[in-house]
Amino acid sequence: MTELRPLTDNDLAAVQQLDLLCFEGDAFASGWWHKAVSGQGAFASVAWQDDRLLGYCLFSRVLDEAELLRIAIAPDARQRGLGARLLSHAETALRESGTAQLFLEVRLSNQPAQQLYRRAGWQQSGRRKDYYPLADGREDALIFSRTL
Ligand SMILES: CC(C)(COP(=O)(O)OP(=O)(O)OC[C@H]1O[C@@H](n2cnc3c(N)ncnc32)[C@H](O)[C@@H]1OP(=O)(O)O)[C@@H](O)C(=O)NCCC(=O)NCCS
Repeated sequence: MTELRPLTDNDLAAVQQLDLLCFEGDAFASGWWHKAVSGQGAFASVAWQDDRLLGYCLFSRVLDEAELLRIAIAPDARQRGLGARLLSHAETALRESGTAQLFLEVRLSNQPAQQLYRRAGWQQSGRRKDYYPLADGREDALIFSRTL
């Protein structure tokens, strides 16, 4: 059975290892994981099955707004609904602790993530031209938002 729960100190090594794997060496700044553990300006959920971390998501928080900074599922556990369950788990926890508005930025080319967000009730609310660097140029960011 998969267990979904908020990030704790005990998850930090596994979450940073999976983050490195899923983002090909572009690990998210470690300070954010510590903020999420302490609940100071960030929130994160994790998905464990047996002794293996299968996914995580990380939000920054300011007042009643939160931004999705990262979400990832282990490559061999994708397209089985876990990303959607994890996002829903985090959204419920955020709503219960006072968050009302969510937003995120996603690469134009990241179709799996956009499909996940749309199916979860997020809507595209903007676009930033040439926002992300590519090996050979730049790529637009789409902005998605959702009211809780
Ligand atoms: C984005 C990601 C988290 C999705 O996780 P997942 O567990 O595979 O997603 P789910 O199985 O819950 O799927 C959610 C929806 O997205 C769709 N989807 C997921 N992967 C897809 C793909 N590769 N192609 C098309 N649709 C896809 C699913 O079909 C589902 O929609 P449906 O209900 O209409 O069938 C996962 O692909 C991932 O870890 N990607 C790498 C990290 C990343 O890019 N993160 C986002 C930026 S921070």
